[in-house]
Amino acid sequence: AAPHRADLVVFGGTGDLAMRKLIPALYHCDRDGLLAPETRIIAMSRGGLADSDFRGKVDAEVRGAVPVEDPQVWARFLGRLHHITVDVSAEGGHAAHPGWGELAALLSGHEDRDRIFYLASPPMTFGPFCRDARAAGVVTPRSRVVLEKPIGRDLLSAQRINDEVGEIFAEPQTYRIDHYLGKETVQNLLVLRFANAFLEPVWNSLWIDHVQISVTETVGTPGRRGYYDHAGALRDMVQNHLLQLLCLVAMEPPARNDRESIRDEKVKVLQALRPISGTEADRFTVRGQYTEGPGMPGYLDEPASTPPTAASRRVETFAAIRAEVRNWRWAGVPFYLRTGKRLPTRRSEIVVQFKDVPHSIFPGGSPNRLVLRLQPSEGIHLHLMAKEPGTGEVALRPVPLSLDFASAFASRVPDAYERLLLDVMAGNPTLFMRRDEVEAAWRWIDPILATWEASGMPPEPYPAGSAGPASAHELLARSGRAWHEEETA
Ligand code: BG6
Repeated sequence: AAPHRADLVVFGGTGDLAMRKLIPALYHCDRDGLLAPETRIIAMSRGGLADSDFRGKVDAEVRGAVPVEDPQVWARFLGRLHHITVDVSAEGGHAAHPGWGELAALLSGHEDRDRIFYLASPPMTFGPFCRDARAAGVVTPRSRVVLEKPIGRDLLSAQRINDEVGEIFAEPQTYRIDHYLGKETVQNLLVLRFANAFLEPVWNSLWIDHVQISVTETVGTPGRRGYYDHAGALRDMVQNHLLQLLCLVAMEPPARNDRESIRDEKVKVLQALRPISGTEADRFTVRGQYTEGPGMPGYLDEPASTPPTAASRRVETFAAIRAEVRNWRWAGVPFYLRTGKRLPTRRSEIVVQFKDVPHSIFPGGSPNRLVLRLQPSEGIHLHLMAKEPGTGEVALRPVPLSLDFASAFASRVPDAYERLLLDVMAGNPTLFMRRDEVEAAWRWIDPILATWEASGMPPEPYPAGSAGPASAHELLARSGRAWHEEETA
């Protein structure tokens, strides 16, 4: 199908997300012929830039990073870029700002195009932006809005934001992005589960001992304290990315691969999560904050424009949770979630640990394990038991049956944002979060946050570059389990 003609308005268009992810992703789409010739990218910010300034900024900051092979394609891409200066504060009421008039003029006459408002800005600006956009007369029936995570900071604020945005954009026009859903291996998880027959019969508590969902990062939070102090790992990663992965692992087979069926099944998983609060939060959750490590500052000493506050001292840069999905398929199977900054490796993976064989006739076997690696080196590895070659006593060894995407498919793995931006332009919301999903996720997160806040205790320190707080190890060790890499190391 021919690419849709679109006007993509990016609010927060000169910010970190836009410059690091959105603009490079759009360039790659353009290079691959996936943008219509008329499609324009209109950045909005307070920056006071002319179109030519913005193009110069993108040329200076993005060109080297993408990287550009054909200067003509790059020039064509730069030609799509525009910049408009606006002011949207949390209070709103800025529709009279001249920028809105400029935007209306730029968009006028193009009402037949898909018009996309991508809000790459803090959540408290979502409502005011939408109201100003409507007051400025730029919202058409063919408009959609894309909301970056996190949507709010708890259930109440998420509901308020969803209500405010919902006054201007109907639910089918609202795309709540979680870029993990655009990652290749994440989509492959659905294919693995629902396009192969052999897994489904064993995908339950009879055969599976537990599941680990782990997103470890080596980066810290330099320059992000303003955001991170009020977010923390639970809001920044668990409420969205990790819970979405959990949903895809745990959900029932949907009847169709359409926009609602998959999302319907995901919501049911979120609603079945066993609530964690009070003393259970002490037993089933761990939070940590990194301190100084070899060549790396602690969280409180990361470069920032303001000195650390009480909120900085309380915020977690690491979180681990033992979750449980209370339904027929999963009762009693722990889902261990873990994420953190300044850990030794950058790795995102889902580990499905099977139970031991019911009756073992060989010494030294270990149970099967299915590892879905999201990054780096995307792939799927099934650890099977095999016999060591030799004539002596039978000796067993786990060997991986491996599917490595880079070698199995010669093509480049597109960035998650490429896929998701194209889906928005094509009007396909399947890989976006519906309102009820986001709210169900907050409903489960809220009591954990409340318990942490009420405890008055600071998070457990762990040195930057170490494996995280000791309690995260104990969370599994007390039931005789271990995080995947602790065993394979
Ligand atoms: C973002 C978080 O949503 O995801 C960041 O705000 C985090 O804190 C990032 O670093 C991780 O994404 P990825 O694609 O690099 O795993």
